[in-house]
Amino acid sequence: MECHPMLALSIMLLLNHINPCAAAAAPSSKANTQYIKTSCSMTLYPALCYTSLSIYAEKIKTSPKVLAHTALNVSLAATKATSVVINRCSRLHGLKAIEAAATLDCVEEVSDALDELRESIDEFGHAVKGSRNFPLQISDVQTWVSAALTDEDTCMDGFDKLNGKVETVIRKEILKISRLTSNALALINNYASN
Ligand SMILES: *[C@@H]1O[C@H](CO)[C@@H](O)[C@H](O)[C@H]1NC(C)=O
Repeated sequence: MECHPMLALSIMLLLNHINPCAAAAAPSSKANTQYIKTSCSMTLYPALCYTSLSIYAEKIKTSPKVLAHTALNVSLAATKATSVVINRCSRLHGLKAIEAAATLDCVEEVSDALDELRESIDEFGHAVKGSRNFPLQISDVQTWVSAALTDEDTCMDGFDKLNGKVETVIRKEILKISRLTSNALALINNYASN
C-alpha cells in the first residue's frame, strides 16, 4: 500500500491521542498546574501569574520555593527584554527633550531593577528554610525585589503626563514587568510565611 503523507500524519496524530504514557502523566501534571493556579490566586495579577508559570509546572511540581524562584527568573528574563526595548527607544531621533529625559531615566531605573533582581535571585538560592540565617536572607530578598518594584514604578511615573508613541510602548513594557515582579514578591512572601 502506498503511504500517503496525509494518512501517515493522521495515524501519527491518532497515536498521540492514545499514547498510554501521555495518559499516565496527565493526573500529576493536572495536580501541578492546579497548585500553580491556587498559589497564583494569592497574587495581585493571578491570570498573568498562571500563564507565566504554568509552562514550568513539571519543574515546579508543588514546591513553594521552586515556584517563587521560577517567578523571579521569569521576572528577570522579562526585565532583560524590556531593558533592550527601552535602550532602543532612548536612541530614537526626534524625541522631545522631555521624552528623551524620561526615557533616559527609565534606562537607568530598569538597569537598577535588573541588578536588584539578580541580587535577589542569588540570595534566594542560598536561603534554606529552617536554617538560622533564613529570616535575614529572606528579608534581604524581599528588600531587593521591593527595590526593583520601586525602580519600575519610578520609571512609570516619569511618563505620567506624556502620551506619544514611545511612551505608550515603554508604559506597556514596564506595566508587564512590574506586575511580574509584584507577583514574584507575593510568592516569596507566601513561601517565607508558611
Ligand atoms: C533560574 O535560572 C537559572 C539561570 O538561568 C537556572 O539555573 C535555574 O535552574 C532557574 N531556576 C528555576 C527554579 O527555574
